[in-house]
Amino acid sequence: MADIIIRPMRISDARPMAAIERQCFSTPWPAQFFREELESNVCARYLIAARGREVIGYGGIWMMVGHCHLTNLAVAPAERRRGLARRILRALMALAFDELEIRSMSLEVRRSNAAAQNLYLSMGFTVNHVMVRYYEDNGEDALLMTCDDTARWMK
Ligand SMILES: CC(C)(COP(=O)(O)OP(=O)(O)OC[C@H]1O[C@@H](n2cnc3c(N)ncnc32)[C@H](O)[C@@H]1OP(=O)(O)O)[C@@H](O)C(=O)NCCC(=O)NCCS
Repeated sequence: MADIIIRPMRISDARPMAAIERQCFSTPWPAQFFREELESNVCARYLIAARGREVIGYGGIWMMVGHCHLTNLAVAPAERRRGLARRILRALMALAFDELEIRSMSLEVRRSNAAAQNLYLSMGFTVNHVMVRYYEDNGEDALLMTCDDTARWMK
């Protein structure tokens, strides 16, 4: 882990991020979505986990007044179970706190995604709503999870 840094996204990261998306999700974001987030969405912040020039994970948030929403979080399959997603999530919490004193974060996760749910439960999130048949590709439910005290978990 010592050789891995967490840094802000650059335009050149969009393609490797999209490549990881394709390995992770049934409805992956294309590179253009990430480029647009960086260039046009003033509320968006994306962080990259990189080993040298290689992108191995990333996460993003949309910041609002007093609250942020996690849009994406993914780690390349070969890099999992080494604490990288937790590191990215902590860094996103710290970024939102440093910029706008945001202490609250929400996200949606598929009901079947036990790995991600375990991560979020271990970082202070709780399930507070179920969005029935939220995902259009397979009709799966989404769990809406929130953490209302990110300052406690970001260090
Ligand atoms: C979910 C994901 C981001 C986790 O990344 P990761 O770097 O492997 O996670 P970490 O190593 O930081 O694990 C943190 C905690 O998450 C939980 N966790 C992670 N992977 C798990 C798995 N396969 N099974 C059960 N729990 C898991 C554990 O509680 C773990 O803590 P521990 O290792 O101390 O037990 C990764 O599996 C991934 O990219 N999945 C595909 C994309 C995805 O589902 N993104 C989330 C969308 S909401």
